[in-house]
Amino acid sequence: MVISMIEIPRNIRERIIELRRSIERHNHLYYVLDSPEISDGEYDALMRELLLVEDEYPELKTKDSPTQRVGAPPLKEFPPMKHRLSLLSIDNAMDRDEVMSFHQRVVKWLDNDNIAYCCEPKFDGLAVELVYEKGLLVRGGTRGDGSVGEDVTPNLKTIKSIPLRLMGTDIPELLEVRGEVVMFKKAFDNLNKDRSEQEEALFANPRNAAAGSLRQLDSKITASRSLVFFAYGVSDAVSIRLDSQYAILSRLNDLGFRINPDIRLCRSMEEAWIFAQHMQEKREGLPCEIDGVVLKVDSIPDQTLLGIKARSPRWAVAYKFPPRQVTTVLKEIGLQVGRTGTITPVAILDPVKVGGVTVSRATLHNEDEILRKDLREGDTVVVQRAGDVIPEIVCPVITKRPQDTRPFVMPGQCPVCRSVLVKDGVQYRCANISCPAVIKGEIYHFASKEALNIDGLGRKIIDQLVEKNLIKDISDLYTLTEEALQGLDGFGELSASNLLSSIQSSRDTSLERFIYALGIPHVGSVAARELANRFGSLDALMKARLDDLTGIPGIGMEIARSINDFFDTKENGEVIDRLLKHGIRISVPPEVIRHQSALSNKSICFSGTLTSMPRLEARASAEALGARVVDTVSKKLDILVTGDEPGSKLGKARTLGVQILSEQEFLAILQQGRQGL
Ligand code: IVH
Repeated sequence: MVISMIEIPRNIRERIIELRRSIERHNHLYYVLDSPEISDGEYDALMRELLLVEDEYPELKTKDSPTQRVGAPPLKEFPPMKHRLSLLSIDNAMDRDEVMSFHQRVVKWLDNDNIAYCCEPKFDGLAVELVYEKGLLVRGGTRGDGSVGEDVTPNLKTIKSIPLRLMGTDIPELLEVRGEVVMFKKAFDNLNKDRSEQEEALFANPRNAAAGSLRQLDSKITASRSLVFFAYGVSDAVSIRLDSQYAILSRLNDLGFRINPDIRLCRSMEEAWIFAQHMQEKREGLPCEIDGVVLKVDSIPDQTLLGIKARSPRWAVAYKFPPRQVTTVLKEIGLQVGRTGTITPVAILDPVKVGGVTVSRATLHNEDEILRKDLREGDTVVVQRAGDVIPEIVCPVITKRPQDTRPFVMPGQCPVCRSVLVKDGVQYRCANISCPAVIKGEIYHFASKEALNIDGLGRKIIDQLVEKNLIKDISDLYTLTEEALQGLDGFGELSASNLLSSIQSSRDTSLERFIYALGIPHVGSVAARELANRFGSLDALMKARLDDLTGIPGIGMEIARSINDFFDTKENGEVIDRLLKHGIRISVPPEVIRHQSALSNKSICFSGTLTSMPRLEARASAEALGARVVDTVSKKLDILVTGDEPGSKLGKARTLGVQILSEQEFLAILQQGRQGL
């Protein structure tokens, strides 16, 4: 050893130290401060150089070298790690009342109602402890049962936001840092995407992914996963000689640790509660999962006075957000038939509250999704609701799977009309256009708010109308009589006449609503408006060729084909004929009037006093028909409208050859324009 130390040139030793410092600095900039100064390529070059030199001079390798982060040889099992001081748990508070009674207990115990709280998001990851001796990371382990966890040091060393050596000066002899290993939502999504491509089992949530990644016997696997460590405390404040939790966090940050940026020192419980609410609202947009807010009495002397009861401190409480992931039983996998015949599998669940809402059904999208997740009737499943998103089933809980479950098999027949199902991409569909489920779906769509907006025509009524054969398609709605309606369950004279009058008033509609109401596959309300404005009449749309359609923004080949196919189907044409015969009146969209009137795209100027209307109204009416109103007469002017005593503008217009209209002629144009020409 002594000999080799003499043999190693001094400049090599210096270069190694310089490389390590530089790499750790860039690690800190990138993984802790989130503000890198060099590119990935430059960082890799530094790392490669260090690996090369350490390879050549293995005696220069140290425990805190960044090369130690890449992963150590696999272990057979994790050695136990006894924590010098136990890792405590925190009491939960589920609502404002419970948080306030925690505060009251603190106030009473300390006989002081002026309490500041250090408020921190509660990470949803894995608790770990890192032990630093003389500034060097010597050991790290999971929480385990609080007193003994697993020693996962090689794995923790692969996490770049964990300093291998503490930064700065005045480093304590011994420091035990506590915090949470998490996986960011984005990294979690990417990991699951990769796993799905490799046909490997998916992780249910970022917490499971973080735990699964950290508890790998082969630390190279841990190194390949994006894990982040956030520090949230120390085992005892004595080692760090500070008297406030907030100050401890700030000191940990200076020592090189990543701290949650959403930490707030609140001067009262009211302020703390507002912060907790604020975090609950912010939760969805955060890069990592949090499941609550931890409120800690900030003063360390007060914490000492309050002490510990059972296994949790009296000085902290965790306000837990309402859960968005719960488990329940998947009773049945049912099939739903949509208005275009598409079959969607749905999960019928034991009703359960998630994120404040009771859920009893969830869409399963398609057969592939059920098979990929291996969902079976009888399974206990994880149900999740993120924000306003509709509930979804994350995965089955395999350990709770009953013995007699069977993998899902897609039925071959439509559950409603028993026709054979046809496969269409990942979807199955019922191709029977007279399938009662399809007809009901079409009618429901036709009557919906954005379509013909028939108030009072809900699913239950439609079901009865179709089942009692009172209507066979949408056009039959206009032949319904009061007597027929009165025969329906729950229908009295009044409700029958109300429904009839809503059907009656739906006869007057706009082109855009009518196109949407037809339920042409892929034509939503936005496309319907675009089509109405471009074609101006149903007739023109029905005659449109593929390239007329694809020329419209937002109408691609798939939609264009679907429109053509729809109007080429004889039955659809017949239904439209019947609708028109029953007195549906379709008004021309204002956009079309603007494009087609005699004033559209014309510049127009008024001169003299108009007798039939104020100047402002004339101006607005002309603009409504697509004209541009200007104040002066020039060569570019298209039309001059003359009222009483038109003045010099008239002379100028004559000289320039501008078209001149009397007020009467202008009024006639307005009239025509309003009627849609
Ligand atoms: S402090 C006595 N702070 O919550 C206080 N814990 O039951 C000890 N956790 O699994 C913990 N975020 O890992 C604290 N900002 C935070 C936290 C936090 C998440 C976890 C912790 C443990 C559980 C405590």
